[in-house]
Amino acid sequence: MNKCICNKLNVSSFLKFLLLWIQVPDIKWADIGGLEQTKRELQEMVRYPIEHRGLFEKFGMQASRGVLFYGPPGCGKTLMAKAIANESGANFISVKGPELLNMWFGGSEANVRDLFDKARAASPCILFFDEMDSIARSRGGGGGGGSSETSDRVINQILSEIDGIGGGKTLFVIGATNRPDILDPGIMRPGRLDQLIYIPLPDVESRVAIFKANLRKSPIADDITFEQLAEVTEGFSGADITEICQRSAKNAIRDSIAAGIERQKRVDDGELTQEEADALPDSVPFITRTHFEASMSKARRSVTPDVVKQYDDFTAKIKQQWSTTGSSDTQYSIDDAAEEQRREDSILEGESDGDTAVM
Ligand SMILES: Nc1ncnc2c1ncn2[C@@H]1O[C@H](COP(=O)(O)OP(=O)(O)OP(=O)(O)O)[C@@H](O)[C@H]1O
Ligand SMILES: [Mg+2]
Repeated sequence: MNKCICNKLNVSSFLKFLLLWIQVPDIKWADIGGLEQTKRELQEMVRYPIEHRGLFEKFGMQASRGVLFYGPPGCGKTLMAKAIANESGANFISVKGPELLNMWFGGSEANVRDLFDKARAASPCILFFDEMDSIARSRGGGGGGGSSETSDRVINQILSEIDGIGGGKTLFVIGATNRPDILDPGIMRPGRLDQLIYIPLPDVESRVAIFKANLRKSPIADDITFEQLAEVTEGFSGADITEICQRSAKNAIRDSIAAGIERQKRVDDGELTQEEADALPDSVPFITRTHFEASMSKARRSVTPDVVKQYDDFTAKIKQQWSTTGSSDTQYSIDDAAEEQRREDSILEGESDGDTAVM
């Protein structure tokens, strides 16, 4: 019977079925260390249109259609997209770029339409394009995976679907990439994924928060603090820190198992009765400084300073291009701006008068 079904389903449509599984992920804000400002911005962007739809109508505004997360690998882009879906109670459809291209080789546009239809039907819904650079490389430049013609068609269809979002359905698109420099600029045009959010390597406070988030269910000894750990992990990504935590816990587990074997040996040798052995205090109740040190000795920074510089350069370029986006610390006043403009005009007038006099 099963064999029969498998034969009818080809591998590609089966994968497609799995991939389009609509879910609410189980990642919570508490699982993400740091990035407090990003969390706040995202909450406003995604939750407001869902929870305060009436206000958007009242003020004659359309909610933002989407954001693009960019930044070095392992710093929480995918995690953040999942958390916002969970916290806003929206449905979540996650599509990975490379899988999407391979699978949809052929009738691609129809499949993109299908994907957006499914997302609209599951409204409120977050449609997440992970590793977006592999589908949305600059058009005409060749796509990752499939032929360039296929990927161009896929991008065009995605762009036109994003343009068509509206019509009263709450659909929010999130893209994530660690190669924003090769992404098709059309994706980031106003009205599309026009909110660019940089998710950088964590600073010291974020690292404290990442250690806390990773170890919040783990018993930690008094001889080490999260602050000390954060201080010595400058340049480590969230994923690198997670690895340190996991390896430290594994060291403690290994020591616990060894202590248990040792205790049992003493019982077998007749040194202790089973009752006495069971009554002994736990010899490895915590993850200790030694466990962390053993883990740190093997730790590595997966993102090099050169790579960080490339992101900083990209961010500076974007800031220059979109100088009005992003928050400014100084208060803007229309009266002050008008005064400034008048001053500039009068200087220019003075200059042109001077030119005339010389002539
Ligand atoms: N801010 C963070 N707080 C807690 N854990 C984190 C954080 N950032 C990264 N991690 C850990 O690193 C792993 C990888 O993070 P994630 O998949 O979100 O990275 P990414 O930015 O999407 O990377 P890539 O660009 O490679 O897709 C997570 O599963 C988590 O264990
Ligand atoms: Mg990711």
